[in-house]
Amino acid sequence: MEKLALQIQSRVNKLPPGLQAHINRVSDIARELAPHHGVDPDRAALGMLAHDVARAMPNQELLRHAAEFNLPVTLVERQMPVMLHGPVGAEILQREDGLTEEDLYQAVYWHTTGHPSLDRLGKVVFLADKLDPLKISRYPYLPFLRELALEDLDRAILEFLSRETVARATTNEMVHPATVETRNHLLAISSSTPASTSQD
Ligand SMILES: [Fe+2]
Ligand SMILES: [Fe+2]
Repeated sequence: MEKLALQIQSRVNKLPPGLQAHINRVSDIARELAPHHGVDPDRAALGMLAHDVARAMPNQELLRHAAEFNLPVTLVERQMPVMLHGPVGAEILQREDGLTEEDLYQAVYWHTTGHPSLDRLGKVVFLADKLDPLKISRYPYLPFLRELALEDLDRAILEFLSRETVARATTNEMVHPATVETRNHLLAISSSTPASTSQD
């Protein structure tokens, strides 16, 4: 673990300063969230350190790595290759830095879109990334999301994904299939799902 953390840190040290600052801020948020949900704060912080290692990679390089690693590339990622930075980052850490823990791999892989299979560590990483205070202009409901995230990870992610889905639909942007699946999954396991809805 120690060696892995050092290798990830050395990658982070080469990232643009603004991205490093984001990673530091969300690491602190993950450390704060983790104990509310039975997650080890050090592992949550390691997840944050790792999550954006491929965020500064140019689109062509992301697409090239995705092909090289045999990663699935959906229509959404072909349109917006930046969506590949989680999957490509997870693969690079696994192939080059000895990341063997499946939960950390999954947390990095799915941190942009969410995924129905995310465990508590993955959910903390997903939410801490969105709770960066500098994202307030993009997510004005951020203080509410932060309160929800401290109480209930699933409710917070559902809230975020629902708002994101509406926002993207309103501006004619695509919604990643993993986001749709995650939202459907969270709706299905929450008590707020309507018993029946019209199929007209
Ligand atoms: Fe990211
Ligand atoms: Fe991030």
